[in-house]
Amino acid sequence: MDETSQPIELLLSVSRAGSRTLGTQIEDQLRRAIREGALRPDARVPSTRDLAGQLGVSRRVVVDAYAQLAAEGYLSLRQGARPRVSGATGLASVASPPAMPPAGTATAPRARFDFRPSVPDVSTFPRAAWLRSLRTALATVTDADLGYGDPRGVEALRSALADYLGRVRGVVADPEHIIITNGYTQGLGLVCHALARAGAKRIALEDPSNPDDGLVAARAGLDPVPIGVDEAGTRVDELEQADADAVVLTPAHQHPTGAVLTGERRTALLAWLRDRDAIAIEDDYDAEYRYDRAAVGALQGLDPDRVVYAGSVSKTLAPALRIGWLVVPPALAQAVSHEKLLADRGTARIEQHAFADFLTRGELDRHLRRMRARYRARRDALVQALTEALPETSVRGVAAGLHVTVQLLDSDNEQTIREEAGHRRIELETMSDFRPNAAGRPPALVLGYAQMSEPAIRTGVHELALAVQAARVRA
Ligand SMILES: Cc1ncc(COP(=O)(O)O)c(C=O)c1O
Repeated sequence: MDETSQPIELLLSVSRAGSRTLGTQIEDQLRRAIREGALRPDARVPSTRDLAGQLGVSRRVVVDAYAQLAAEGYLSLRQGARPRVSGATGLASVASPPAMPPAGTATAPRARFDFRPSVPDVSTFPRAAWLRSLRTALATVTDADLGYGDPRGVEALRSALADYLGRVRGVVADPEHIIITNGYTQGLGLVCHALARAGAKRIALEDPSNPDDGLVAARAGLDPVPIGVDEAGTRVDELEQADADAVVLTPAHQHPTGAVLTGERRTALLAWLRDRDAIAIEDDYDAEYRYDRAAVGALQGLDPDRVVYAGSVSKTLAPALRIGWLVVPPALAQAVSHEKLLADRGTARIEQHAFADFLTRGELDRHLRRMRARYRARRDALVQALTEALPETSVRGVAAGLHVTVQLLDSDNEQTIREEAGHRRIELETMSDFRPNAAGRPPALVLGYAQMSEPAIRTGVHELALAVQAARVRA
């Protein structure tokens, strides 16, 4: 028997006498052994089958306990590999004593339950497929390809994206008018700068929306103006009064409420764009994740001369790649390309070749098919757990995306709940994080479900309900 297949003994015991479940006893003992250093970073722990056998408990109990400890950062679980204690970096915040941080840096303890809404499950990043595309890119780029090149990006990628976006989102894209960016955030900045140079003054932003959008627009010299959102999406009727030259919106899945911009509102928006000679910037952030509702095509397909389409791989693959794109109306293309040149002379080109290869081999489609099934199961676990643990709240925005919103009681206080959640090391965001002025608005939580296994989601919601109760007692 080789070293890796040897069963490992571990000094644990469980008792059926007390009130604590078998799983909790296993979790507590392992947590303590790791915290106190009896189990060191990277140490192997028994397989779930072995430990279940050693303790005489069902394997399910050990599987759930390990999943919980992995969600808390104590264990590292990878398919096909032996379970291990997390490496030294992963454990920095859960093992004691903590190392002193370099001066000026803050160390937040690692979350036990990470419900932050804007991060996908990067543990499933298709490393082998990406590596293959990177190798192909390195093996095939010419010496000329290693120069600065066109600031709009590599032609092969612009062309592959035009096909992909046309096929899956109904975007009307000529590769000539596509600009590869370092993610959506940069793309928005480039368009805002180009609009400001052309004389635009005010830009309408959804309220609620991603708070960085307002900061990016203001840096470009535009004045951000909030417009409302309801169940039918952006309040297009407020645009007239906003006196704006452009509008940023998330029509397929309003961020963060999850509303879809209705057909009627789309028609009204397009009429406003024409009458006002204005530009819409469509953030198609997480349109790829749709579970139980019909596909909603991109707004850009309805008026490519007035709508800038913006997207990135941050939610489909990983934010770390820093790859995004703009599909720009022909009249704006030259100005935005010039902004890209001045910003950084273009996005990293070897990665662009790799992404072109990845797209044309169908790897993104394959990855998304796999992830949709996984996220749907997590979404179901979250919605069910919330319905059971917090029945007085209402869960919304469940049909698509990677997060839901939880409408609290009017008497609830987001800040107190956030504090109580923080004491339990639960990371979450609340609706006021997405509003320029949240005073007097109904309280709500914004909970992402992409990063946790179903057992961790269930335990996390249970703990969250305790945090909500504790906050109510404090009120
Ligand atoms: C609604 C929305 N759009 C876009 C982005 C940013 O994407 P990128 O990483 O491509 O800059 C975020 C980031 O959290 C977001 O919340």
